[in-house]
Amino acid sequence: MSQVKVNPSSEFSLKISEIAPDKSISHRSAMFSMLAKGTSEITNFLRAEDTLNTLEIVKNLGATVVDDGTTIKISSDGIKESSEILDCGNSGTGMRLFCGLLSSANGHFILTGDEYLRRRPMKRVTAPLRDIGAKLDGRKDGDLAPLSIRGASLKAFDYESKIASAQVKSAMILAALRADGTCSYTEPELSRDHTERMLKGMGAEIEVQGLKTIVTPMKELLSPLVIRVPADPSSAFFFAVAAAITPNSNIVLEGVTLNETRIEAFKALARMGADIRYEISDNKYEPIGNITVKYAPLNAITVEDNISWLIDELPALSIAFACAKGMSVVKNAEELRVKESDRIATVVKGLLACGIEVSEYEDGYTVQGGELKPALIDSHGDHRIAMSFIIAGLRCGMDVRDLECINTSFPNFFELLKKITTVEFK
Ligand code: S3P
Repeated sequence: MSQVKVNPSSEFSLKISEIAPDKSISHRSAMFSMLAKGTSEITNFLRAEDTLNTLEIVKNLGATVVDDGTTIKISSDGIKESSEILDCGNSGTGMRLFCGLLSSANGHFILTGDEYLRRRPMKRVTAPLRDIGAKLDGRKDGDLAPLSIRGASLKAFDYESKIASAQVKSAMILAALRADGTCSYTEPELSRDHTERMLKGMGAEIEVQGLKTIVTPMKELLSPLVIRVPADPSSAFFFAVAAAITPNSNIVLEGVTLNETRIEAFKALARMGADIRYEISDNKYEPIGNITVKYAPLNAITVEDNISWLIDELPALSIAFACAKGMSVVKNAEELRVKESDRIATVVKGLLACGIEVSEYEDGYTVQGGELKPALIDSHGDHRIAMSFIIAGLRCGMDVRDLECINTSFPNFFELLKKITTVEFK
């Protein structure tokens, strides 16, 4: 399955309940279970490469994991030194959050990842953690994995981050839980807040005051997590774009987290003209419900605020930009350059190959809506690039190569896509 030919779709009307479970929440649920006294119970855990790697690491760190195929039960009596090298695969979230979790654990740990992850910047977590006493190292003075961590005592901190990153915030909150006094973390823009919500739900003393998060170190182990992981809005968004660019189509995406910090891309698509509705059905840890998306002719927009709220969806949103009337603009999105690929470069290159006029800037790009043409797109090992251009293929047909990366986040993507169109694997 290294290359696929996607054929154009005709109108569709669908309800999907099998969108991949949320990746961010799945990683966190496995890791945070190690901070609880008793057994955590996780249902609808994302069984994709990234999160299964995290689960494997949790096992290597001494947790007991019992998986009956539906519910994963995790119990731990403290993080144990492992004789294994801890392999995060493709996942920046896995590696960065484990840096925070392991910085104060007893023992020595090695974290590594695949060729892409070993190129991604880690100093954003290793530097602030070192400042509070953590003993972390890696290539380029701690910027590149493999990383080594020797657990140490951590000092209380007041840290002001220059980047709005939930991974950095989460690593520092995990460190703060074991620091020697009350800590605060301030970010320039609110990033996704699953860590705060889940840890608070487990009884941690975490207070959020706007952009500042105040953490009181744990006096005792937390209560176990009992969670059903909602569907991932970032995965659901590929199908939202599919409906938004296919005339007379509509889709209902069921059981998705409706957390404000995660649905900004749907709001952007609505600003472009698509008819989008939300219906909350549950609210444990965070609001969860259905999102309905109906086709309507799309108009160009500018995206420049709350970028971290739609950073993962920008590649798919760019396919909607290509189908819209006028020139869309993305600004303040330099973080895209350090994702699974340099997503400014890979989106721009892909759209150019499809005959769309684009301009590239250091912190973003512009897309002049036009007519997508079939092309051969290389994913550059980036799951979101692969899936975005496959969705573009619903308009005009497309060949996309290097598809294995889709298994990092959305293993049943093609199963769902086949409800809309036909595909041929080469
Ligand atoms: C994530 C945070 C974001 C996001 C990533 C998942 C998380 O990264 O892009 O896919 O689960 O915390 P940054 O924290 O680097 O913005």
